Amino acid sequence: MSIATSIDQGVLTIGFDRIDKKNAITAAMYQTMADALRAAETDAAVRVIVIEGKPEVFTAGNDIEDFLKRPPTNGADGAPAPVFQFLQAISRATKPIVASVSGAAVGIGTTLLLHCDLVYASETAKLALPFAQLGLCPEAASSLLLPRMVGYQRAAEKLLLGEAFSAQEAFEIGLVTKVLSVAELQGYVRQQAAKLAVLPASSLRETKRLMKGDDAAAVEKKMLEEGEVFRRMLVAPEAKEAFTAFFEKRKPDFSKFS
Ligand code: COA
Repeated sequence: MSIATSIDQGVLTIGFDRIDKKNAITAAMYQTMADALRAAETDAAVRVIVIEGKPEVFTAGNDIEDFLKRPPTNGADGAPAPVFQFLQAISRATKPIVASVSGAAVGIGTTLLLHCDLVYASETAKLALPFAQLGLCPEAASSLLLPRMVGYQRAAEKLLLGEAFSAQEAFEIGLVTKVLSVAELQGYVRQQAAKLAVLPASSLRETKRLMKGDDAAAVEKKMLEEGEVFRRMLVAPEAKEAFTAFFEKRKPDFSKFS
């Protein structure tokens, strides 16, 4: 079980649970999360959703072995690949989503936060969007949402260079709601989720819709556009070199590609 889910007092908790691989996300894990988010939409027992990792690591992002050997494709029934189902479900969620981030949050580990409502991070959190470093391009509508949220130049630095940045910097540029110590994080997140769980669901739903509503169509459109480019780049030689270098524990060499 690489995703642990539980429902308690109105709070659905979705937890990354693959610590030996730094919570890297496989297709099966995306599917579990997509299913849980969709089921939450119609489950009156769920009033709030918490997405959490472990104190050591939130998630190392997409499983790179999956990227290499099983790049996302539509299912035989035409259903979108699990990662796209997950992104669609998180971006369409009508209930509040609270993220609890400690340690590394790489790639989709950071872009999924752009779809959460409250993002709490520990002082050890390290966010990173290393798409260009991997020969890829942004996903999860981050090429639209990040510049809007933090300004073009700051978004460009994060998306073009792909270097990791601290929880404190993420807070300062507006990606994180509050920074806490590792010891405080889980308790604080539980407390905030419990507060939301007893507020009127209709008010939360309408407030979220009013804040996000106008962007919804643009987000879907950008995700489709990014998805097309991403799928093409995933099987290109630049990405192959980056993934192989990761497993060979060396720096990639992109000098032969123009
Ligand atoms: N996909 C598949 N396996 C991964 C992984 C990923 N995204 N991230 C880490 N792992 C695996 C490593 O291969 C290693 O496996 P092994 O023990 O069988 O050799 C194990 O998890 C531990 O990773 P390691 O790199 O040794 O841990 P670390 O503490 O030194 O570094 C990270 C942690 C998250 C900074 C680092 O693992 C990393 O950069 N991962 C890749 C992140 C990435 O590029 N994701 C894709 C984003 S689009």
